[in-house]
Amino acid sequence: MDEGFELRLIEALQPVRGFALAQGIYHLFSSGLYERIADGPQSVQEVAAALELDAARTSGFLRYLANENYVTLRGDTVALTEKGRGLGPYRPWYELLVGGYAETFQQVTHVLRGKGYASRDGRLVGIGSCGISAYDALPLVRELMSDLPATPDSIVDLGCGDGTFLADLVGDSGTVTGIGVDPYAPEESSAAGLDFVRSGATDYVRNTVASDAEPDSSGLCLAAFLLQEILEQEGRSAVVELVRAALRHSGHLAVVEVDHRPADPQVMQHGLGLAYYNPYYLLHVLTEQRLETDQFWQDLFREAGASVVSRRVVDPRVDSTGLEVGYLLSRQGGAAQ
Ligand SMILES: C[S@@+](CC[C@H](N)C(=O)[O-])C[C@H]1O[C@@H](n2cnc3c(N)ncnc32)[C@H](O)[C@@H]1O
Repeated sequence: MDEGFELRLIEALQPVRGFALAQGIYHLFSSGLYERIADGPQSVQEVAAALELDAARTSGFLRYLANENYVTLRGDTVALTEKGRGLGPYRPWYELLVGGYAETFQQVTHVLRGKGYASRDGRLVGIGSCGISAYDALPLVRELMSDLPATPDSIVDLGCGDGTFLADLVGDSGTVTGIGVDPYAPEESSAAGLDFVRSGATDYVRNTVASDAEPDSSGLCLAAFLLQEILEQEGRSAVVELVRAALRHSGHLAVVEVDHRPADPQVMQHGLGLAYYNPYYLLHVLTEQRLETDQFWQDLFREAGASVVSRRVVDPRVDSTGLEVGYLLSRQGGAAQ
């Protein structure tokens, strides 16, 4: 065996270390341990009892995380390290990429053989996505809404995930009503003026437009990371029809999409390019979703008879790649106003 073998083995195993650690951090959050330990140093026995976890296994799990410097474990006392405390705001990225898509990444070879699409955990995709959106797409949509002629009286959120995005928008004003549509929408609403429908977006919009006595030109439809889903599930013409119907139902449509530039070195040399967008682009190759370019969406909107009232990107302090793009659309000719 040559001298450098062990050093190269250590290097070769770093992705495996990352694989286990990503799962470990996701479960630190999902087990309830993170929130509990964030309260301050406490005994593993007490924490495990409070969360109805097995104390010996919990201790082993925390020892693993202590070796990776996310917690300290002294005797039976566990606490978050500074690195562990710093993780808190990033929970939704773990919910999306590990909770929602870990099973997807396990299916690469199967999908490469052309055997359909990989599965995902739809509930956690909605939770993780809306959690991330609180940092990027939600402020972006608020900015797009500032380009509206007036505050909308209703918002229909197509592909609403766990509904928290819509709940925040509705909560901003107190007078706006909201309907969230998603196969994984919450079963019931926790707030007045907010309702959820478990349905596909095209069926919902088609049926609603068919029963509309009069279009509500002071309403807003929202499709954040939804058109990419419909594009692969139902095809381009279904997306064109959805945009058209949404604008017939509500005066404006706000769309958020991710620009598809996986071969652009500028993107992949960016820190978020390799940390987030590279796996994000990959999971779209594997699942029933299709990302497209900024130009593709602008052409599609034109075909659907929509005008782009404004186009904005996410706050660069959160994501400076410029890849997450928001469009505010109205019916061509400004009839929506
Ligand atoms: C990436 S998440 C986006 C969630 C939320 N809009 C956000 O901005 O974070 C995409 C959502 O679209 C939903 N979805 C997928 N196919 C759909 C369809 N045909 N009709 C409605 N929603 C769909 C998924 O269940 C998922 O919640």
